[in-house]
Amino acid sequence: GGVAYQSSYRGIPIAMKDIAQAQLDLGMSEATKIMQKRVDRGRMKSQKMAEVLTGITPTLSYENLADVDLVVEAVVEKESVKKIVLAETEKKISEKAILTSNTSTISITELAKVLTRPEQFCGMHFFNPVHRMPLVEIIRGEKSSDATIAATVAYAAAMGKSPIVVNDCPGFLINRVLFPYFAGFSGLVNDGVDFLRIDKVMEKFGWPMGPALLLDVVGIDTSFHAGGVMAEGFPDRMSQDVPTIISKMYEHEWYGKKNEKGFYIHSKDKKGKPKKEPNPGIADFLQDLGVGSGEGISDTDIIDRMMLPMLMESSRCLEDNIVETPVEVDMGLIYGLGFPPFRGGIFRWADTFGLNELLQRAEKHKALGKVYEPTEQIMKMAKDGKLFHPLE
Ligand SMILES: NC(=O)c1ccc[n+]([C@@H]2O[C@H](COP(=O)([O-])OP(=O)(O)OC[C@H]3O[C@@H](n4cnc5c(N)ncnc54)[C@H](O)[C@@H]3O)[C@@H](O)[C@H]2O)c1
Repeated sequence: GGVAYQSSYRGIPIAMKDIAQAQLDLGMSEATKIMQKRVDRGRMKSQKMAEVLTGITPTLSYENLADVDLVVEAVVEKESVKKIVLAETEKKISEKAILTSNTSTISITELAKVLTRPEQFCGMHFFNPVHRMPLVEIIRGEKSSDATIAATVAYAAAMGKSPIVVNDCPGFLINRVLFPYFAGFSGLVNDGVDFLRIDKVMEKFGWPMGPALLLDVVGIDTSFHAGGVMAEGFPDRMSQDVPTIISKMYEHEWYGKKNEKGFYIHSKDKKGKPKKEPNPGIADFLQDLGVGSGEGISDTDIIDRMMLPMLMESSRCLEDNIVETPVEVDMGLIYGLGFPPFRGGIFRWADTFGLNELLQRAEKHKALGKVYEPTEQIMKMAKDGKLFHPLE
């Protein structure tokens, strides 16, 4: 629904196909809700709202897809279902059309295997909520052609988004660097640091929300599954060998905001505005986990234990050629995750301290696991006194 809305809002008409009428209705009502608020506040004319809605054609049939230029597949996050839907879609669209997938965790190269025109396929990963988050990751599979990537980048830009092109790997760029950050969070909780304190410290650092609330918003189930994909892809540093608060919550079906139970209890106030309160039930899980006392862990330790894994993995993404430049990583994090913009991104943040200082700080936490291990790139840059964003 979000993709259809954004496309039509920018004047690019779109057919929205689903297998369930109720889901199509939901998509249209979500779009209406977003715009009605704007109209009520005088920020949008009702004529524009009508045009946007007319630009979306909800459909249960493939017929409306026969003449499209580009398709964004966004069905359930299951490889088997996506493969069936993609193969079927490819047969129904024109030979020139481009096919993309909004998958968050499935390999683009793998999905391409069921297609007869894999060069006309790539990833097009949006971030939630689509109408607010500026980033789109365009993922180049092994067989995606340059023309396909260029056309998909152009479509993202025409939708008013800021695309970055990344090579295929588990988690692509954004989730690949987000999950080590979450690992930092789980480690802190296991050591007995209160999640409310972590959220406060990270909000003060500048994040729009702390990691516990972010996990609630993303969904504990979604994070648990994506964490599994990351662990499989990078077992040396992303597999969790001890139970964590996330696995506990998942076991008990506390999925976060979507079922109102997460680190916070999510509800609505009298005016219908979202409200959240810390979930007292978390304490029982922490007792089961036998967490530490949290003593001696300073606010700087909290920041470092969250941010250093993100920095190291971002550097690994450059080393592995997942993304070309530090600027793209920094832009991706600001636009896709809400990384504090005034800090300029993870590499700019690292530059403000200098890599030698950060290496010392990483040394303090190295016993916590490989997510804290400095990369060759960072060690070399520190030795040569280099910055990710060199001053002219
Ligand atoms: N929710 C997010 O935050 C988010 C963010 C980025 C990417 N994504 C990706 O977007 C995709 C969809 O996620 P979601 O959260 O909207 O899932 P969802 O389960 O809410 O929606 C999936 C939709 O696909 C429809 N569907 C299922 N089988 C279909 C078929 N054979 N043909 C046509 N439609 C079919 C369902 O009816 C449903 O409307 C996933 O790949 C997910 O990883 C989600």
